[in-house]
Amino acid sequence: MKTQSVLLIHGGAWAMPDDAVAAHERGIADALAAGYSLLKRGGSAVDAVEAAVAVMEDDETFDAGRGSFLTQDGRVQMDALLMNGENLRTGGVACVERLRNPIRAARLVLDRSPHVYFVGTGAERFARQHGMALCDNMDLVIPREQQRLYKAQADELAGLRDETFSGSLDSHDTVGAVALDVHGNIAAGTSTGGTLNKAPGRVGDSSLIGCGCYADNLSAAVSLTGWGEPIMKLVLGKWAVDRVAAGGSPQDSAQDAIDYLYSRLGGHGGIILLSPDGRIGLAHNTPRMAWGIQNAEGSQIGVTRN
Ligand code: GLY
Repeated sequence: MKTQSVLLIHGGAWAMPDDAVAAHERGIADALAAGYSLLKRGGSAVDAVEAAVAVMEDDETFDAGRGSFLTQDGRVQMDALLMNGENLRTGGVACVERLRNPIRAARLVLDRSPHVYFVGTGAERFARQHGMALCDNMDLVIPREQQRLYKAQADELAGLRDETFSGSLDSHDTVGAVALDVHGNIAAGTSTGGTLNKAPGRVGDSSLIGCGCYADNLSAAVSLTGWGEPIMKLVLGKWAVDRVAAGGSPQDSAQDAIDYLYSRLGGHGGIILLSPDGRIGLAHNTPRMAWGIQNAEGSQIGVTRN
């Protein structure tokens, strides 16, 4: 039986300044176009999610790929996960420094490895062995982020901010996508440079199964953005899809997940959810969240305010 395809994506949830809104809207539109064109031609949900996320990784606007937030020592270090809800095949990479598109490395792990998760130089070696080019880390570092890091570290020295800034509302621009294809299969992907001034080697929620990303045809597909540590402690992605499996609507489940994140641990972030019957959910408790959706009826792009 053929179903109607849907692509729902997010481009971060944080205290996005007014002058960043237009770039986020443009980036979301580009990612929707890339992902939905595949779905429209009968492509798989996994293909659409990978394509949409890769476009946002290539766009310096977002905290993923080139333009990511920097670690304490001024490097880009990225995490990504891709999951196929049809068969639970999954690929994850973390702490990669020399890949322009970590989501494409995650796809290679999903397709071509008996393993699920690679980190650091092992992940880069796996990607290279399967045809991906490695870049120099400095190719991923941009002046905007160097300035942001210098300011954050100066503020830290002046006692204006805490040590890691992880709980700060101005450093969560992780990207993600969920999709439903015409065959009725769902998929999810999430990609991030992590949080501003993170310690080298720190891994956030985005690439951990069930935390920042999950997909199962028996429940739902989910991608999260926000402060990773509380999301990880609550395994919030799996928490949310389990509520859909138990009969909750995706919208109620998305809102419940964000409420739970805040009430339990004071966390903040945003979530997108998609059920196999095409219903969606979206919620955030940050000042803004960038998102977009496309289906047969058309597309909608938003930078929602709270
Ligand atoms: N949600 C992104 C991170 O905390 O790494």
